[in-house]
Amino acid sequence: MEKTQRLTHILKRLNSGEDPEAVKTDAKELLASVSPDELALAEQNLLDEGLSVEDLHGLCPIHMEMLGEQVSQMQAQLPKGHLVSTLVHEHDAILGFLDLLGQLNQTIQQMPAYPGPTHEFRQLAHVAEHLAETERHHQREEEVLFPELEKRGMYGPPMVMREEHNQLRPRKRQLKELVETVDRQDFATFKRHLAALTGFIVPTLRDHIYKENNILYPAALQVIDDESVWQRLHQECDTIGYCCFTPEA
Ligand SMILES: [Fe+2]
Ligand SMILES: [Fe+2]
Repeated sequence: MEKTQRLTHILKRLNSGEDPEAVKTDAKELLASVSPDELALAEQNLLDEGLSVEDLHGLCPIHMEMLGEQVSQMQAQLPKGHLVSTLVHEHDAILGFLDLLGQLNQTIQQMPAYPGPTHEFRQLAHVAEHLAETERHHQREEEVLFPELEKRGMYGPPMVMREEHNQLRPRKRQLKELVETVDRQDFATFKRHLAALTGFIVPTLRDHIYKENNILYPAALQVIDDESVWQRLHQECDTIGYCCFTPEA
Protein backbone atom coordinates (compact mmCIF):
# COMPACT_ATOMS: atom_id res chain seq x y z
CA MET A 1 0.00 0.00 0.00
CA GLU A 2 1.18 3.50 -0.75
CA LYS A 3 2.37 5.49 2.29
CA THR A 4 -0.41 8.08 2.06
CA GLN A 5 -3.04 5.32 1.86
CA ARG A 6 -1.59 3.57 4.88
CA LEU A 7 -1.65 6.84 6.78
CA THR A 8 -5.22 7.54 5.74
CA HIS A 9 -6.13 4.08 7.03
CA ILE A 10 -4.50 4.80 10.41
CA LEU A 11 -6.26 8.15 10.73
CA LYS A 12 -9.56 6.40 9.98
CA ARG A 13 -8.94 3.83 12.70
CA LEU A 14 -8.20 6.63 15.20
CA ASN A 15 -11.38 8.41 14.21
CA SER A 16 -13.53 5.28 14.45
CA GLY A 17 -12.92 5.16 18.19
CA GLU A 18 -10.35 2.37 18.26
CA ASP A 19 -8.06 2.47 21.31
CA PRO A 20 -5.47 5.14 20.42
CA GLU A 21 -2.73 3.22 22.25
CA ALA A 22 -3.20 0.18 20.01
CA VAL A 23 -3.28 2.30 16.85
CA LYS A 24 -0.30 4.30 17.98
CA THR A 25 1.90 1.24 18.26
CA ASP A 26 1.02 0.32 14.67
CA ALA A 27 1.44 3.89 13.51
CA LYS A 28 4.74 4.72 15.12
CA GLU A 29 6.98 3.00 12.63
CA LEU A 30 5.13 4.39 9.65
CA LEU A 31 4.99 7.92 11.01
CA ALA A 32 8.71 7.96 11.68
CA SER A 33 9.27 7.73 7.94
CA VAL A 34 6.52 10.14 6.87
CA SER A 35 7.09 13.73 5.80
CA PRO A 36 4.79 16.62 6.80
CA ASP A 37 3.34 16.95 3.30
CA GLU A 38 2.47 13.24 3.19
CA LEU A 39 0.66 13.62 6.50
CA ALA A 40 -1.16 16.67 5.19
CA LEU A 41 -2.18 14.72 2.08
CA ALA A 42 -3.57 11.89 4.21
CA GLU A 43 -5.67 14.40 6.15
CA GLN A 44 -6.92 15.81 2.90
CA ASN A 45 -7.95 12.34 1.67
CA LEU A 46 -10.17 12.04 4.71
CA LEU A 47 -11.76 15.43 4.04
CA ASP A 48 -12.32 14.43 0.41
CA GLU A 49 -14.06 11.29 1.65
CA GLY A 50 -16.51 13.41 3.59
CA LEU A 51 -14.96 13.58 7.05
CA SER A 52 -15.77 16.98 8.55
CA VAL A 53 -13.20 19.51 9.68
CA GLU A 54 -14.62 19.06 13.19
CA ASP A 55 -13.85 15.33 13.10
CA LEU A 56 -10.34 16.04 11.99
CA HIS A 57 -9.79 18.23 15.05
CA GLY A 58 -10.12 15.13 17.21
CA LEU A 59 -7.17 13.53 15.49
CA CYS A 60 -4.80 16.39 16.06
CA PRO A 61 -3.74 15.70 19.67
CA ILE A 62 -2.64 12.25 18.61
CA HIS A 63 -0.72 13.59 15.61
CA MET A 64 0.92 16.15 17.80
CA GLU A 65 2.05 13.56 20.28
CA MET A 66 3.47 11.41 17.49
CA LEU A 67 5.21 14.15 15.63
CA GLY A 68 7.37 15.39 18.46
CA GLU A 69 9.26 18.64 18.49
CA GLN A 70 10.57 19.67 15.09
CA VAL A 71 10.37 23.42 15.44
CA SER A 72 13.81 24.27 16.69
CA GLN A 73 15.32 22.12 13.96
CA MET A 74 13.22 23.90 11.34
CA GLN A 75 14.07 27.36 12.74
CA ALA A 76 17.78 26.57 12.65
CA GLN A 77 17.61 25.83 8.93
CA LEU A 78 15.71 28.98 7.94
CA PRO A 79 17.50 32.11 6.77
CA LYS A 80 17.14 35.11 9.10
CA GLY A 81 13.95 37.05 8.48
CA HIS A 82 12.26 34.25 6.52
CA LEU A 83 8.50 34.75 6.80
CA VAL A 84 7.99 31.33 8.43
CA SER A 85 10.70 32.16 10.95
CA THR A 86 8.88 35.41 11.80
CA LEU A 87 5.60 33.52 12.24
CA VAL A 88 7.30 31.04 14.62
CA HIS A 89 8.84 33.91 16.65
CA GLU A 90 5.40 35.48 16.90
CA HIS A 91 4.05 32.14 18.12
CA ASP A 92 6.64 32.19 20.93
CA ALA A 93 5.40 35.62 22.01
CA ILE A 94 1.75 34.52 21.79
CA LEU A 95 2.46 31.44 23.94
CA GLY A 96 3.86 33.79 26.59
CA PHE A 97 0.63 35.85 26.56
CA LEU A 98 -1.40 32.65 26.90
CA ASP A 99 0.61 31.52 29.94
CA LEU A 100 0.09 34.92 31.53
CA LEU A 101 -3.64 34.90 30.76
CA GLY A 102 -3.98 31.50 32.47
CA GLN A 103 -2.13 32.73 35.57
CA LEU A 104 -4.06 36.01 35.79
CA ASN A 105 -7.38 34.22 35.46
CA GLN A 106 -6.46 31.96 38.38
CA THR A 107 -5.44 34.90 40.57
CA ILE A 108 -8.53 36.95 39.70
CA GLN A 109 -10.89 34.04 40.37
CA GLN A 110 -9.74 34.18 44.05
CA MET A 111 -10.64 37.87 44.41
CA PRO A 112 -13.91 38.56 46.29
CA ALA A 113 -14.43 41.99 44.68
CA TYR A 114 -12.93 44.18 41.96
CA PRO A 115 -9.90 45.79 43.62
CA GLY A 116 -9.52 48.64 41.09
CA PRO A 117 -6.88 48.95 38.37
CA THR A 118 -4.19 46.95 40.19
CA HIS A 119 -1.12 45.39 38.61
CA GLU A 120 -3.13 42.24 37.72
CA PHE A 121 -5.77 44.17 35.84
CA ARG A 122 -3.22 46.28 33.98
CA GLN A 123 -1.46 43.06 32.95
CA LEU A 124 -4.78 41.54 31.90
CA ALA A 125 -5.54 44.56 29.71
CA HIS A 126 -2.07 44.26 28.17
CA VAL A 127 -2.59 40.55 27.38
CA ALA A 128 -6.08 41.11 25.93
CA GLU A 129 -4.75 43.87 23.65
CA HIS A 130 -1.86 41.74 22.44
CA LEU A 131 -4.09 38.76 21.76
CA ALA A 132 -6.29 41.03 19.64
CA GLU A 133 -3.12 42.03 17.77
CA THR A 134 -2.63 38.39 16.70
CA GLU A 135 -5.23 39.08 14.00
CA ARG A 136 -2.48 40.48 11.81
CA HIS A 137 -0.52 37.26 12.21
CA HIS A 138 -3.59 35.22 11.23
CA GLN A 139 -4.21 37.58 8.31
CA ARG A 140 -0.72 36.93 6.89
CA GLU A 141 -1.39 33.21 7.16
CA GLU A 142 -4.84 33.39 5.60
CA GLU A 143 -4.08 35.84 2.83
CA VAL A 144 -0.51 34.95 1.91
CA LEU A 145 0.64 31.51 3.07
CA PHE A 146 -2.57 29.44 2.89
CA PRO A 147 -3.58 30.50 -0.66
CA GLU A 148 -0.11 29.53 -1.89
CA LEU A 149 -0.54 26.05 -0.37
CA GLU A 150 -4.04 25.71 -1.78
CA LYS A 151 -2.70 26.68 -5.21
CA ARG A 152 -0.38 23.68 -4.89
CA GLY A 153 -3.23 21.32 -4.00
CA MET A 154 -2.92 21.33 -0.21
CA TYR A 155 -6.41 22.14 1.05
CA GLY A 156 -6.90 20.19 4.29
CA PRO A 157 -4.55 21.81 6.81
CA PRO A 158 -5.27 25.42 5.75
CA MET A 159 -9.00 24.65 6.02
CA VAL A 160 -8.59 23.37 9.60
CA MET A 161 -6.42 26.37 10.54
CA ARG A 162 -8.89 28.90 9.06
CA GLU A 163 -11.70 27.23 10.96
CA GLU A 164 -9.76 27.66 14.22
CA HIS A 165 -8.98 31.32 13.43
CA ASN A 166 -12.73 31.80 12.94
CA GLN A 167 -13.48 30.21 16.32
CA LEU A 168 -10.85 32.30 18.08
CA ARG A 169 -11.58 35.69 16.47
CA PRO A 170 -14.85 36.58 18.28
CA ARG A 171 -13.51 35.28 21.61
CA LYS A 172 -10.40 37.45 21.44
CA ARG A 173 -12.63 40.43 20.72
CA GLN A 174 -14.95 39.53 23.60
CA LEU A 175 -12.00 39.20 25.98
CA LYS A 176 -10.79 42.68 25.09
CA GLU A 177 -14.28 44.16 25.53
CA LEU A 178 -14.78 42.30 28.80
CA VAL A 179 -11.52 43.56 30.27
CA GLU A 180 -12.15 47.14 29.15
CA THR A 181 -15.49 47.24 30.99
CA VAL A 182 -14.49 45.46 34.21
CA ASP A 183 -15.28 48.51 36.37
CA ARG A 184 -18.81 48.75 34.95
CA GLN A 185 -20.11 45.24 35.61
CA ASP A 186 -21.00 42.76 38.29
CA PHE A 187 -17.70 41.19 39.36
CA ALA A 188 -19.05 37.64 39.71
CA THR A 189 -20.36 37.79 36.14
CA PHE A 190 -17.06 39.24 34.98
CA LYS A 191 -15.15 36.36 36.59
CA ARG A 192 -17.47 33.78 35.01
CA HIS A 193 -16.97 35.26 31.54
CA LEU A 194 -13.23 35.59 32.06
CA ALA A 195 -12.97 31.93 33.07
CA ALA A 196 -15.01 30.78 30.06
CA LEU A 197 -13.01 32.84 27.54
CA THR A 198 -9.68 31.84 29.08
CA GLY A 199 -10.78 28.20 29.09
CA PHE A 200 -11.42 28.36 25.37
CA ILE A 201 -8.68 30.66 24.09
CA VAL A 202 -5.68 29.24 26.00
CA PRO A 203 -5.91 25.55 24.97
CA THR A 204 -7.32 26.23 21.49
CA LEU A 205 -4.67 28.75 20.49
CA ARG A 206 -1.89 26.66 22.06
CA ASP A 207 -2.96 23.60 20.05
CA HIS A 208 -3.33 25.72 16.94
CA ILE A 209 0.22 27.03 17.27
CA TYR A 210 1.56 23.54 17.86
CA LYS A 211 -0.10 22.25 14.70
CA GLU A 212 1.21 25.11 12.60
CA ASN A 213 4.74 24.78 13.97
CA ASN A 214 4.87 21.02 13.59
CA ILE A 215 2.69 20.24 10.59
CA LEU A 216 1.65 23.19 8.47
CA TYR A 217 4.87 25.22 8.36
CA PRO A 218 7.16 22.22 7.73
CA ALA A 219 4.76 21.10 4.98
CA ALA A 220 4.80 24.60 3.47
CA LEU A 221 8.60 24.61 3.40
CA GLN A 222 8.55 21.34 1.47
CA VAL A 223 5.76 22.22 -0.92
CA ILE A 224 7.02 25.72 -1.77
CA ASP A 225 10.59 25.06 -2.82
CA ASP A 226 11.19 28.09 -5.04
CA GLU A 227 13.13 30.89 -3.32
CA SER A 228 11.63 33.58 -5.57
CA VAL A 229 8.13 32.53 -4.45
CA TRP A 230 9.13 32.99 -0.81
CA GLN A 231 10.44 36.45 -1.67
CA ARG A 232 7.14 37.40 -3.31
CA LEU A 233 5.22 36.07 -0.29
CA HIS A 234 7.49 38.04 2.01
CA GLN A 235 6.61 41.25 0.18
CA GLU A 236 2.91 40.43 0.48
CA CYS A 237 3.39 39.93 4.24
CA ASP A 238 5.14 43.31 4.46
CA THR A 239 2.10 44.93 2.85
CA ILE A 240 -0.22 43.44 5.48
CA GLY A 241 2.09 44.44 8.32
CA TYR A 242 3.25 42.92 11.60
CA CYS A 243 2.19 42.71 15.21
CA CYS A 244 3.38 45.12 17.92
CA PHE A 245 5.16 42.11 19.48
CA THR A 246 6.88 40.87 16.29
CA PRO A 247 10.63 40.69 16.96
CA GLU A 248 12.64 42.70 14.45
CA ALA A 249 13.93 40.60 11.58
FE1 LIG B 1 -2.93 30.30 12.43
FE1 LIG C 1 0.08 31.07 13.41
